[in-house]
Formats: sequence, structure tokens, C-alpha cells
Amino acid sequence: MSVTIGTPLQASAFKVLLLGSGELGKEVVISLQRLGVEVHAADRYDHAPAMQVAHYSYTLNMADAEELKQLIEQVKPNLIIPEIEAIATQVLVDIEEQNIATVIPSAKAVNLTMNREGIRRLAAEELGLPTSAYRFADSIESFRAACDDIGYPNFVKPVMSSSGKGQSRVKSFDEVDAAWEYAQTGGRVNQGKVIVESQIDFDFEITLLTVRAKNAETGEIETQYCDPIGHRQDAGDYVESWQPQAMTPAALGESKRIAHKVTAALGGCGIFGVELFVKGDKVWFSEVSPRPHDTGLVTLASQFQSEFELHARAILGLPVNTTRHSVAASAVIYAGVDDRNLSFSGLNLALSNPDTDLRLFGKPEGFKRRRMGVATARAETTDQARELALHTATQVSVQQN
Ligand SMILES: Nc1ncnc2c1ncn2[C@@H]1O[C@H](COP(=O)(O)OP(=O)(O)OP(=O)(O)O)[C@@H](O)[C@H]1O
Ligand SMILES: [Mg+2]
Repeated sequence: MSVTIGTPLQASAFKVLLLGSGELGKEVVISLQRLGVEVHAADRYDHAPAMQVAHYSYTLNMADAEELKQLIEQVKPNLIIPEIEAIATQVLVDIEEQNIATVIPSAKAVNLTMNREGIRRLAAEELGLPTSAYRFADSIESFRAACDDIGYPNFVKPVMSSSGKGQSRVKSFDEVDAAWEYAQTGGRVNQGKVIVESQIDFDFEITLLTVRAKNAETGEIETQYCDPIGHRQDAGDYVESWQPQAMTPAALGESKRIAHKVTAALGGCGIFGVELFVKGDKVWFSEVSPRPHDTGLVTLASQFQSEFELHARAILGLPVNTTRHSVAASAVIYAGVDDRNLSFSGLNLALSNPDTDLRLFGKPEGFKRRRMGVATARAETTDQARELALHTATQVSVQQN
């Protein structure tokens, strides 16, 4: 099985269309550029991070089926990489069926994971994986009943949402109606449906980056794992991550078993961020992203091939190496203000330690809680790496112009 890549901007170009051009996409584009791929980047606003490093960029509403179809017809990509969930996924299902382009990792994966109901039913009901107890509800009455059924505290999430939007932790029956109202404002599309999950009392949570990539000799798809990544979430958003997260051999084995099963069911080649809750030897499946994961930014500092390089190689049918060379951590840099055209200073101080590094994403507009960059740090232990990454992040200050 030989993989051939042409010359960008020439007739032989191997073309990739990126749908969603955030900071994770930007790193994927850089990895693809290094391998001579022609990259087309799309998002709903101009000058999105990945657009700034792509050959071509497009601003459109990717949730609009007509607009999306038109773009695909115009670009004629070999591969389509959906980088966000708010996409007219039915278009991708049709594209794959008609063999117009390969959807990464597969149209099925993209379609199932954009909706919490799809992926939860697959994991728990079809694959029999351990998850929190859950109910779905699409009216205030069925929601009250679902909350009572699951008990308190529980977690409520719009089925079509990500990054903690519309999510709340409901501690008692008194909070149920407010949680419903809040969920109705946070969904991606005005769909109304929510999932109610029992609270898992975990010791820690991890992202197990799982790569499905072809074996160089046999062409068979094999599953490989990065070392587990620990992370801390605040209001549904990751604020710091580290690798490796220490865990028992039994819990690591169970994590890999779960990750293998769910990624095999989703299919295709590429990296998956499998989110798991761990308590002692016990592991619960939470959710999975069929793409690089934000907590995996730490792999820029810890692995020979970051999660972005692993993704680029895997989707091109190339072999991968998930080996970690260092203990490392990442810490998020927020805008802290709502404004455009921001400046970043203190970089000389932040980078004065040779074991630190920075990524500034180049987003044209910041919001208080918008991620504008990330600091990474290497150290002897994860505790030291976390401390250094957090320190590095705080040395960067954001200024309005
Ligand atoms: N059932 C649960 N029990 C305990 N904690 C939970 C549960 N569900 C969610 N959480 C906590 O809330 C965080 C966010 O939940 P989840 O990953 O489902 O939301 P999300 O909107 O998809 O977030 P993201 O897009 O950042 O991954 C989890 O990482 C975990 O810390
Ligand atoms: Mg999550």
C-alpha cells in the first residue's frame, strides 16, 4: 500500500478541506503542510487560526447544507476533516456514500459524536461499555421525571452542545426548572433535548488519545494509545492538562479496552480523544471526540509526534509513533477581556525557562473566557510540570489596544 502526495497548488495536489479552523485545526494544518498537503480551511469567521496557515480559506455557515455542499464541490478535496461539531453532517454522510471524498475519520463517527444521544446509546447500549446512568428528556415534564429517576446530584447537558454550554449540575429538585431553562439557551441548534447523567464520583478524569492508523507493511488498521492525560476542568472547559496521569495497571488496561471498542465502532483512521472517569481500578466512558482533543495540547511538549502530527499521519495512511519522551503539562491562556486586536506581553519572561513553550493562536477577537493561547512545560514530575506551565501562562499578559 503506497501513499502518494502531489505538489500543493499544482494539478497533482493532494487536498484536504478543514471544516472548523480553531487552534487544534491550526496545528493539524501545520503538520499537513510539512508533508506537502494542500490545505483549505473553513470557518464561520474570517482569519480564524487555521486559516492563517492554510493555502486557501473560506468563511461560511458550515451548518447550512447548501453552503457546505457548494464548498465541497468547489474545492474537490481528497479528505474532509470536520474539526467542530456544528456542521451539516448529513452532507458528509452523502459525500462518503457517493465516494466524493473521505470523511475523517468516518461520516458515521462525525454524525454520532455531534449528538450526545448518538454516542451514548452506541457506547452503553450497543457496546455495553460502563457509563453513568442516563435518561433523555425533551420537555419540562419528562425532564422532571428524568431527574427524579436519576437522583441528585446529576449533570444536565443539551444533547447538541459542547464546551460546557448549557450544562449544569443539579443538586436537588429545587434546581430542576432553572437547569431546564439554562439548557434551552445553551444548545447548538434549537433542539431542546437534554441528557441527564448520574454523577460519577471519580478520583480523576483522563483523555486517552487513541490512534487508528495503518500498519506500514500490512495496510491493516491498528490501534495505538498515547500515555493517559490528566486534566482539570473549570465550568466545562479544560484549564490545565498533564501527561502521564498515574493510574493502576488494571485501570489503564480497562481504559484501553473501552477506547479500543468505541473507536473501532466509529471506524476510519485518525486520532480520537476518549474521555474517561477513573476511580481505583474502575473506569467509566464519558465521551469521545473523533479528532485531536484540547487537553492533548500537552503532547506538543511530551511526545515525539504530537496528537496533531499523529492525526495528520494517520489520515494520510502513514505509520505513527505514540512514544512520549518527557513528562509535561499545559495551561490555558485566556483573553480575560472582551475585545478585538489584543496584544500579548511578558513573553520573554514566560520563555526564559528552557523547558517552557508557548502557542498564541492568533484569534482576531477575545472574550473573557476565550482560549487565546497555551503554555507548555517539561519537568521531572507532573506536579512540577503543572506548576511550571501554570506559572508560564500567568507570565503572559493580555493588553487591549
Ligand atoms: N456524569 C458526570 N459525573 C461527574 N462529572 C461529570 C459528569 N459529566 C460531566 N462531568 C464533568 O464535566 C466535564 C464536562 O463534561 P462533558 O465532557 O460531558 O462536557 P462537554 O461540554 O463535552 O465538554 P468538552 O467539550 O470540554 O469536553 C467533565 O469533564 C467532568 O469533569
Ligand atoms: Mg468533554
